[in-house]
Amino acid sequence: MPGFIIHTKRELNKSLYTFFTEDHHRLEALLDKATATPGFVDPELYHQFRTGLLKHIKMEEKVLFPAAQRANGNQPIPLAARLKLDHGAITSLMVVPPTEEVIKVIRHVLEKHDLLEEEPGGMYDICEKLTAGETEALLEELGKATEVPVHPFNEASYALEVAKRTLARAGFDYADIVSQDQTQNS
Ligand SMILES: [Fe+2]
Ligand SMILES: [Fe+2]
Repeated sequence: MPGFIIHTKRELNKSLYTFFTEDHHRLEALLDKATATPGFVDPELYHQFRTGLLKHIKMEEKVLFPAAQRANGNQPIPLAARLKLDHGAITSLMVVPPTEEVIKVIRHVLEKHDLLEEEPGGMYDICEKLTAGETEALLEELGKATEVPVHPFNEASYALEVAKRTLARAGFDYADIVSQDQTQNS
């Protein structure tokens, strides 16, 4: 079949998009499972979500985004700055205990953030186009990424204040999100 090889190449080019998008879905499912029982957060499942999300961010910031920038003649991808601010906000939310409010804010931020990466013409499309010739090498590098070590949750109120400020820098209002998204009871 003459079209077969071309199709395979397209599949390879699509792999980075698929790799990261599937990881978004995996993490979303983990968070859903961890919070399936109202008023209870499953510690083991939430730990998997937390470490998985931090590893996901690390793979984007240490492998995917730099590869795209290199392929772009070392010019930063404009969207990367915005996404890195989101990553900072998400990371700061991984530091604090997962209260119902915090979980709501995480869901809100992830929804917006993942869309900027996944939508047509979004970050993953941009990265994939730029790095089309090195997909396999990048996937291999991504496969070697290690877990990010985590500390126990920081229960101090300043940790939540830091998270709120980091969210604000990324354009998110913690209190606003909590009040707007008040759809669940504990
Ligand atoms: Fe991201
Ligand atoms: Fe992502």
